[in-house]
Amino acid sequence: MTSPAQADLVIVANRLPVDRVTAPDGSPAWRRSPGGLVTALEPVMRAEDGAWIGWPGSSDDDDFEPFVEDGLSLIPVPMSAQEVEEFYEGFSNGTLWPLYHDLVAKPEFHREWWESYVAVNQRFADKAAQVAADGATVWVQDYQLQLVPQMLRQQRPDLRIGFYLHIPFPPAELFSQLPWRRQILEGLLGADLIGFQLPGAAANFVRLVRSRVGHKTHRDTIYLPDGRPVKATAFPISIDTAGFEELARSEGVERRAKEIREALGDPRCIFLGVDRLDYTKGIYSRLRAFGELIRDGKLDLEDAVFVQVATPSRERVEQYRILRDDIERLVGGINGDHGRIGRPAISYLHTSHPREEMAALYRAADIMVVTPFRDGMNLVAKEYVACRFDNDGALVLSEFAGAAAELRQAWLVNPYDIDGMKAMLLEAFAADSKERGRRMRAMRKTVLQHDVAKWAEDFLRDLEAVPEHHDKSVRRPRAK
Ligand code: ADP
Ligand code: G6P
Repeated sequence: MTSPAQADLVIVANRLPVDRVTAPDGSPAWRRSPGGLVTALEPVMRAEDGAWIGWPGSSDDDDFEPFVEDGLSLIPVPMSAQEVEEFYEGFSNGTLWPLYHDLVAKPEFHREWWESYVAVNQRFADKAAQVAADGATVWVQDYQLQLVPQMLRQQRPDLRIGFYLHIPFPPAELFSQLPWRRQILEGLLGADLIGFQLPGAAANFVRLVRSRVGHKTHRDTIYLPDGRPVKATAFPISIDTAGFEELARSEGVERRAKEIREALGDPRCIFLGVDRLDYTKGIYSRLRAFGELIRDGKLDLEDAVFVQVATPSRERVEQYRILRDDIERLVGGINGDHGRIGRPAISYLHTSHPREEMAALYRAADIMVVTPFRDGMNLVAKEYVACRFDNDGALVLSEFAGAAAELRQAWLVNPYDIDGMKAMLLEAFAADSKERGRRMRAMRKTVLQHDVAKWAEDFLRDLEAVPEHHDKSVRRPRAK
């Protein structure tokens, strides 16, 4: 393991792959962090020998030393309770998250939140500057850290700096609402290569830089006044497909999948939703669609049940609290109206589960329902496909998930159109095994070919290939 002081590859993400939590007996413990960023990057970092800088998720002033957890070299960055409120819950998740997801909720703009965003970004940049070896590659992740590339370059012009945005990049008209739009664009331009999920997002970014900052651009390259080129390109993210399939094939998972089906009363069809409890995910609309199908007699409870697993997320942010109440009320209403003893229409679990349990749920589910209003990629959709080595099972997928660009053979839906969604759920329900197999085989081919190892390899290769800075006074030794 490389010592943190000399890492040749440094990942900088708001979150570490593990979260500091308090166990039921009151003792401190580490637990896997929520979300797709960690799912994607963990296998990449296991294969590379680098360091991972991030926040350990605790909202007190704990200051942990660097440590190794399960083979990964982790470097914690602390945050005060006020920073958690202003930087994390505030600017990151109350301003940027809704703004970048097409205003699914209303973003709030507060100057104190912005100041905290600048201060915390500076702390991450300082830590990366300390940890990176001479000429190292530093790969900054996601919307919480968009100022880090420029802050880091100011201190360490010898580094190769990459940035990857895991969420959508909004159209110019929406991004332009941001009072600090220019600072964000300039922050990102500290990188040599900026990666996006989809080509449209990369093009939006290049256009904005041209119009708002005035730099020259040609296709996916931006030329800074000092001659340094910055590339903005799409790299659709993925999962450890083979790892998921292996897990899904294990005896333990197969046994657990059977148990789950039995516990649900062995219905003909299990519908499944798996999401962080987030308003971008369209959980409410999908459950409403299912509830109406039961109400209208289009689906019978003897035939169909819905399992919705929702990971607790950002629970102190008001919009997330409101969403949780709304969903719990809806589930209660549907089960109260239509459920029978021992047979609720919807089984709702507001908990996080180990990977084995997720794989068992994917194996047990006949129809996976993924209906975000907007999503950068959506790894749950790819995980489901990876686990269906039997070429069976149906995926109902929102057109507005990044994954829809690759998983064209899913039953695609517009989550704003409840009647359209009901029709598509019924179509997937009625599809015969030949049709399901045809679609699943095609999707599996895509997900097996484009796994997360390929994603990381493509990004790091292109980062290394960005032409050297024209200013020869800056020495940039190559990473070993
Ligand atoms: P996001 O990054 O917005 O949360 P993704 O679908 O891209 O959405 O990634 C979610 C990740 O979190 C997936 O790897 C999924 O398996 C995992 N996940 C979602 N819900 C749960 C849960 N209840 N328990 C454990 N893991 C979960
Ligand atoms: C999405 C974001 C990640 C974030 C994750 C979980 O995947 O792109 O940056 O880490 O959600 O959200 P949280 O706020 O709990 O870190």
